[in-house]
Amino acid sequence: MPVDYKFLTQEQRDHFLEHGWLKIPNAIKKQYVDEFMRDYWIRIDYDEHDPSTWKEDYVKLPRHRDIPVSEFCPDAYKAICDIVGGEDRLDPVRNTAHGDQFIVNNGSEYWEKHDYPPATATGWHTDNDWYRQFLDSGEIALTIIHLFTDIDLRGGGTYICEDGIKGVCEFFLSHPEGLDPPFPKETYTHVKDCKVFTEMTGKAGDTYITHVYLPHAASKNHTRKPRVIANPHVTLRSPFIFDRPDPADLSLVEQVVLRALGVPRLPAAEYAPQAVRRTYYPRNYTYKGARIQEELERLVAHAKKEGKGEESVDSVYLRGGETLEAFNKRQGLDKPHGPNKFPEGTRSHQQIEVIKRAVDDPVEPM
Ligand SMILES: [Fe+2]
Repeated sequence: MPVDYKFLTQEQRDHFLEHGWLKIPNAIKKQYVDEFMRDYWIRIDYDEHDPSTWKEDYVKLPRHRDIPVSEFCPDAYKAICDIVGGEDRLDPVRNTAHGDQFIVNNGSEYWEKHDYPPATATGWHTDNDWYRQFLDSGEIALTIIHLFTDIDLRGGGTYICEDGIKGVCEFFLSHPEGLDPPFPKETYTHVKDCKVFTEMTGKAGDTYITHVYLPHAASKNHTRKPRVIANPHVTLRSPFIFDRPDPADLSLVEQVVLRALGVPRLPAAEYAPQAVRRTYYPRNYTYKGARIQEELERLVAHAKKEGKGEESVDSVYLRGGETLEAFNKRQGLDKPHGPNKFPEGTRSHQQIEVIKRAVDDPVEPM
């Protein structure tokens, strides 16, 4: 079926195709920005007015609550549907709600006084911490960046590298055996030679929709104004199809890949996964989850101090039961751990030198 664009203008579609990303200003309903940020300082346990208490300059928090995407950010949701080729191509469960798993960039005294070129930033990557990556994997089609604070230039906005998409596509094309996360460094070494770097700045409530193969990196926050974002994903029902019979059936996400590879289509004879697809527990949630209990304790203590009960704390971890079960399923927290699991108790991202692959099933025809 030809893609039926219901929301995006031709100009926005062209922008996504050319750059691999699109900004939707004021996408998140204000009530959710406010609600999610209300208990932020209690969760992170820093004094808002005293930067000397901001012990870690970069922190990833767990998720306590989420809201269906179409309700949370209606315009961004409509844009997402257009970009993936229609609502019916979205997975009906996984990543259907966006939440408050904040990524905080506090900066530091040192970075207030120092600069560096984006190409030399460490940590260029594309997102995937939970499935065997093939070029046509649909587990993550889009990486979303929701802004919960205003972000100025040099204020710690994520760096993106749009001319780096090509190198990522070529790397995955050359690995039909699939890659289990984390990926080897070579996936992103080409970024150092790229030229087009953009800092994702904006206002609280803005949303960036980015192609899954758009390399990005945390930037240093050169100000002492905390930057808070969340980084959910868009999951498809099934893998990308690069040789749809009618080119009008190709989604914009699929077109970005073909364009990067310089081909009008990619028939199965030229690319097909050579191993079984696998999905795992999101490995980064091991260290985010390590913070849940202490955050809950602080939230409950704060509520009590204000004369309120535990039920006033908005966390799914206090609800349990079917609510928690559904919440976990939406995030894949019901999946088995894959290779390269972080040790229990890890509280922040660490590089793992030895990259292990899961034990392979026999190669099956896809
Ligand atoms: Fe990322």
